[in-house]
Amino acid sequence: AVTNRFYTYERVQEIVAFIQNIAPIKPEVAIICGSGLGGLAELVTNKTVIPYANIPHFPRSTVFGHRSNLVFGILNGVSVVCMQGRFHPYEGYSTAACAFPVRVMHMLGAHTLIVTCAAGGVNKNYDVGDIMLIKDHLNFPSMAGNNPLIGHNEERFGPRFPPVGHAYDRQYSSQMKQIASKHNLELREGVYCGLGGPCYETIAEINMLRSLGGDAVGMSIVHEVTLAAHCGFRILGLALITNKCLSEYDSTVEAVHEEVIRISELKANELQQLVLDFVGAIKND
Ligand code: 6GU
Repeated sequence: AVTNRFYTYERVQEIVAFIQNIAPIKPEVAIICGSGLGGLAELVTNKTVIPYANIPHFPRSTVFGHRSNLVFGILNGVSVVCMQGRFHPYEGYSTAACAFPVRVMHMLGAHTLIVTCAAGGVNKNYDVGDIMLIKDHLNFPSMAGNNPLIGHNEERFGPRFPPVGHAYDRQYSSQMKQIASKHNLELREGVYCGLGGPCYETIAEINMLRSLGGDAVGMSIVHEVTLAAHCGFRILGLALITNKCLSEYDSTVEAVHEEVIRISELKANELQQLVLDFVGAIKND
């Protein structure tokens, strides 16, 4: 697998130069759109769309429900870059390869990162369609030796031993809670468990995650947040609960990808509205 060592500072600079050659772009906010949530990028005006396939050294997203573009432009008055489609370790990419676009977006000038994703509800109080503000995460691939920062550390990106205890920005979280309450939307807040996939979890695994303090589960975000915290992004994370995870052996409903996509498209508007308002609020900071 392509590791950390491939994504040198110079390669990131090369990509940044490639993008800046297409348009004079300096995004303030970077947004990663999860499964079924690519619609946010459609709300961007004054757009420059660059397919991943055109960008040197970029992976391709191979998953149904994910498009494959960097979308630059203006969202609610703020200069943004959206990843419309992301990369997952289960596609065969290393966690370093999956997450390295975060460094590209940082070098382009973004200092705020909004990560969104579809996730399964581990917390028994969560319902399908709930939106969870990510307070913290359990990074299982990292604990198993697949942290994207393994290998040579490039000090120009960040430190050898980056702290991640406050990766999700507290001030951003409280701003997001205010925005949600303005919309009369009951926001959940919890711990996201990042797993390697591509299998959905067994019942025993879900019960384990719950006993460890997990509230939602998915196959993305944690490697991105790791690189983003490393290079100094302020981060906001939102997970859309697309299905309730199985906890009982006599239960009959299984998670299915089509259902995950259907629910996230159904509920995408609410999440998009939160992100729109949040981006507007940063502008006024
Ligand atoms: Cl149930 N599990 C995982 N790992 N990812 C998901 C999911 C479940 N639902 C949406 N994404």
